[in-house]
Amino acid sequence: MDKIENPFPVIAYHSPEYFCNRQSETDQILEGIKNGRNTTVTALRRMGKTGLIQHVFQQLKSKKGVRCFYLDLYPTTSQADLVKLLAKSTLGKLDSNQIKLMRELANFFTHLRPMIQYDQMSGAPSVEFTLDANVQAEHSLEQIFAYLEKQPGQIVLAFDEFQQILEYSEKNTEALLQTFVQKAKNIRFIFVDSQNSMMQAMFRNQSRPFYQSTDMLNLVAIEHDIYRKFIIEKFAEGKRKISDAIADRILDWCRHHTYYVQLLCNRLYTKGIRQPDEWYVERLMAELLDENSSVYYNYRKLLTQNQWLLMKAIAKENGARQVLGGEFIRKNELGSTSSVQTALAALLDKEMIFDEEGRFYVYDVLLSRWLEQH
Ligand SMILES: Nc1ncnc2c1ncn2[C@@H]1O[C@H](COP(=O)(O)OP(=O)(O)O)[C@@H](O)[C@H]1O
Ligand SMILES: [Mg+2]
Repeated sequence: MDKIENPFPVIAYHSPEYFCNRQSETDQILEGIKNGRNTTVTALRRMGKTGLIQHVFQQLKSKKGVRCFYLDLYPTTSQADLVKLLAKSTLGKLDSNQIKLMRELANFFTHLRPMIQYDQMSGAPSVEFTLDANVQAEHSLEQIFAYLEKQPGQIVLAFDEFQQILEYSEKNTEALLQTFVQKAKNIRFIFVDSQNSMMQAMFRNQSRPFYQSTDMLNLVAIEHDIYRKFIIEKFAEGKRKISDAIADRILDWCRHHTYYVQLLCNRLYTKGIRQPDEWYVERLMAELLDENSSVYYNYRKLLTQNQWLLMKAIAKENGARQVLGGEFIRKNELGSTSSVQTALAALLDKEMIFDEEGRFYVYDVLLSRWLEQH
């Protein structure tokens, strides 16, 4: 695998070398695939769900007869979008002989029309699909799955940001997909869901048919000691020395939330200092917060005063308990219990905060650290 300039990528997955641990999670998904079970992965945003799926796919790359397809549902807003995305991400990639593929698809599908498009920049061809507007998306979904079922070997299909289907105006999407999930013998599914909290996930999932029939995997933060070792090693490979104390500080400051740990390490690595001291790292953290402060001031305008004050109080506790209790409210001068209740619900709904085992945190770690100081 090729070396990269900075060993702490902050967008997407690069390669196993730059991916910290997640061994048991990877094994769990692979075991599921091998034994004919589907898996649902849930976690906070930016904890590493997408990275994990790509890591699993990387392991399957060398497996003969297994083909992996990844779909990010985040941009989709309807069943028609889902159909087009599914067609493009699976059918459009099945055969490298595109002319043959086009002929076959044209014969097979009645309402999905494939077209070859060429990338404006690179000129690389890709297959796009259009869907007859007056045909039910359901019908095309059925055809796509029928086509995939005819394929030799094993197919692994990952639906990232799966909770997005709840936003479609068609409310039967989940039940509809489930019928295909149960039928397709050669397809294993991975569903990825960004949840506010495990409790909410459990609660919501009770009424959702899918989850009952899949293995659940709740992705939590990478273990402290393992992540510390990884950080120190990656700096060392780049001829930089990071003390245990600094690695500990980075992990704690970032609450072990993967994206933020990666971001801070990426920034520190970029500075090129051979042996940064603790003071240097503190300054870097302040610099990072400073950079974002105009965005944070803007949040203040978008939230009500009650919401803002509550969020600040939560940030200061860094894992606030009993935020509706008299003591918390008095200490932070938050007004009446009912107004705090309203603000709390709004902040949860906007995903500005999340709760974990009865403790509340500001979702964005950097915002949380900034609020602590303002
Ligand atoms: N195990 C890991 N080791 C190193 N970096 C990781 C790991 N998991 C995720 N990342 C990085 O953290 C960031 C957020 O991960 P991502 O998978 O996009 O989160 P999610 O899909 O849960 O929102 C990405 O930049 C990714 O490269
Ligand atoms: Mg993701």
